[in-house]
Amino acid sequence: MTKSVKPMRIAGVGYSVPKTVVTNDDLTKLYETSDEWIYTRTGIKERRVVSGNESAIDLGFEAAKQAIEKSGFKAEDIDCVIAAASAPPQLYPALACNIQARLGIPDFVPSFDLTAACTGLIYALQVARGLIGSGLYKNILLVAADNNSRLVDWEDRGTSILFGDGAGAFVVTEAEDGVDDILALDVRADGGIGQYIYMNMPGKNCPLVEPCDEVDSHIHMAGRDVYKFVVTTLPNYVDKCIADAGMKAEDIDYLIPHQANQRIIEALQQRLGYSDEKVISNIKYYGNTSAASIPIALKEGVEKGKIKLGSTAILCGFGAGMTWGAAVVRLREGIC
Ligand code: UT7
Repeated sequence: MTKSVKPMRIAGVGYSVPKTVVTNDDLTKLYETSDEWIYTRTGIKERRVVSGNESAIDLGFEAAKQAIEKSGFKAEDIDCVIAAASAPPQLYPALACNIQARLGIPDFVPSFDLTAACTGLIYALQVARGLIGSGLYKNILLVAADNNSRLVDWEDRGTSILFGDGAGAFVVTEAEDGVDDILALDVRADGGIGQYIYMNMPGKNCPLVEPCDEVDSHIHMAGRDVYKFVVTTLPNYVDKCIADAGMKAEDIDYLIPHQANQRIIEALQQRLGYSDEKVISNIKYYGNTSAASIPIALKEGVEKGKIKLGSTAILCGFGAGMTWGAAVVRLREGIC
């Protein structure tokens, strides 16, 4: 029996970052480091961080509001909310539930978080594709929002230099014109190397039993292992995703990668043989904003005139899990 798979359209994109900037020079007040060390190894000059009671919920709300406005839908048209959240202010209620309520999305609409760290938005696209493709839901809001700055260990100079806070959002919908914006999409995971990046939940055993070891609930990362894994895995993987779309690298207009390290972005650029104009990088100003980094790079790229819509792009990401994923997508006019 042939399955009915409905095509999906990317209808709107939004992003939001906090106003507060922490530069590499600012970090020299916390530990021994330098702008030169950080910039040459990562491409990062500064990152944005939440302050006071601001959180990923506020950032996610703003990004989602923009994405809905751009999509031409109203909050009441959204029939499912999926949030990619790995460093949210609360484990529950889910970030998606917080955003559903703040936006006035009807109070029965299913809303849930998924945890795929920095690959979260590509995982959310894959889940949404299944839900829209099967006809279960029609207009899905995808939000990626993390306040990493609350969860890094500000005494760990190997990890805290990398992360920043931010949010990004997509509205995806059934493509009623029959044109699928998803030309290829794939997500993967290898839990066997999960120890490369992890964050424990805090907690203690019941006082009536033997105590468990004290846990540290900061983000931990074996930076060198992550780096090696990504540069050996991702370029081949991205090639495969492009082939799955029935395309060649030169047929695609832009590479919009997860912003984790400029050297990783350059390794992908080299493999694809792309000129600088085709590669979207804003890591210099935001650091690694986890799953939000791709929509932030996309929308900011359009605002700054680096990306022209009515084009195609390859999105690719990787993160804790380890997870990774890539999508070849159509970027229609008017989505940003
Ligand atoms: O979405 C999350 C994905 N994560 C990533 O993509 C991370 C990928 N990995 C990386 O980007 C790099 O591994 C880092 C930028 C995190 C680190 O660079 P590295 O070249 O791998 O440095 P390292 O951790 O091997 O450390 C080299 C040296 C060490 O000193 P010794 O032991 O050689 O004396 C560190 O203590 O650099 C030292 N170091 C620093 N020095 C100045 C580590 N962090 C710093 C720092 N400033 N901030």
